[in-house]
Amino acid sequence: MSTTRPTTLAQPLLRPVGLGDLELPNRVVMAPTTRARAANDGLVPTDLHVAYYGQRASAGLIVTEGTWVSERAIGFINVPGVYSEQQVAAWRRVTDVVHALGGRIVQQLWHVGAASHPDHLGGELPAGPSAVNPHEMTFTRRGFTATVTPREMTAEDIAATVADYRAAARNAREAGFDGVEIHGIGPYLIPQFLNPRLNHRTDAYGGDAARRRRLLLEIVGAVAEPWGGRCVGVRLSPYWTSGDRFAPDERTLADYDELVSELNHHPVAYLHLRGRDVAAPGDRPDFDAIARYRRLFDGPLIANNGFDRETGNAVVEAGIADAVSYATHFIANPDLVARFAMGRELACGDQATYYAGEAEGYVDYPLCGWADGRAG
Ligand SMILES: Cc1cc2nc3c(=O)[nH]c(=O)nc-3n(C[C@H](O)[C@H](O)[C@H](O)COP(=O)(O)O)c2cc1C
Repeated sequence: MSTTRPTTLAQPLLRPVGLGDLELPNRVVMAPTTRARAANDGLVPTDLHVAYYGQRASAGLIVTEGTWVSERAIGFINVPGVYSEQQVAAWRRVTDVVHALGGRIVQQLWHVGAASHPDHLGGELPAGPSAVNPHEMTFTRRGFTATVTPREMTAEDIAATVADYRAAARNAREAGFDGVEIHGIGPYLIPQFLNPRLNHRTDAYGGDAARRRRLLLEIVGAVAEPWGGRCVGVRLSPYWTSGDRFAPDERTLADYDELVSELNHHPVAYLHLRGRDVAAPGDRPDFDAIARYRRLFDGPLIANNGFDRETGNAVVEAGIADAVSYATHFIANPDLVARFAMGRELACGDQATYYAGEAEGYVDYPLCGWADGRAG
């Protein structure tokens, strides 16, 4: 075996860290990954979910796939929810196994807002901040389908949505999770409200940046209630780019600066930041793009997007992030922490099974070979 491989102590990623009330034995976080394996009418997690998360219990923290807070939140087929009794009971089996194997797991709470489609909503129009088509694609039973012009959410719709998040957070607690994470990335409900190109409201939830971020801050307060502590993470993607609606510029970045500073005054366990996309796979992520938020947010920060072992250790060593999350590497390497610790090669995932299929490409990625020092 090579003697040049880094020892675990030399790797900042393998040192313990606290994120709010969560105590992690290492800083290698499993990023949320929608895998669309809840192929049943009730959108209930199955034995496959138990195996998938159990296999990855050595992560410092697992963040589940985005999980629907209500039927109104749905915008992708076969994604599980956390709004029914059956779903809560099934998630309990997942958290029990992860805990029995020594892990920690938080539930990501998701609502797609205007990025849904009548096919997901029993024929009804999706609702968003304003009647503006986000021009996204949504995956329905017919395949990728273009979004439509949604209806504008009423004040009652907004109150009901905040209540859905609160109920989902309570359900997550009942299901044995260690906390929840608010899904605030991509083109979905929360970034739609933050975005002046999609939010044309003139009430308390639109008009200026402070009003556009009000929904998120109300959701933070609502989901924190059942936890009574710092167990709520917030995930944001200020650099998200898609179509003509999400294009970061000085104005939108300034709005995110204010939002992140404001989060210091709310019960947030950690900020989970998706940084700028790398130009090509294997390129070094832009550390400055993450450091911008490190300067603004006083609490723990998880960095994401395009990291490997070397750049993950470097961003923690530089004091820019407290932990690093990995999505695609955790899909193909259930024992990612062991591979980092032992300096092993990483396997590549099969993209064809990322968002569809059953056990194949989900729970059948092998562990690395411990004895011979080669990748499994
Ligand atoms: C298959 C797949 C599913 C994803 N699902 C989610 C999700 O449910 N919630 C979320 O916030 N991000 C989701 N993401 C984004 C990832 O968490 C992450 O930001 C992205 O893959 C970049 O990280 P990486 O370079 O470590 O893969 C998903 C990404 C992939 C590849």
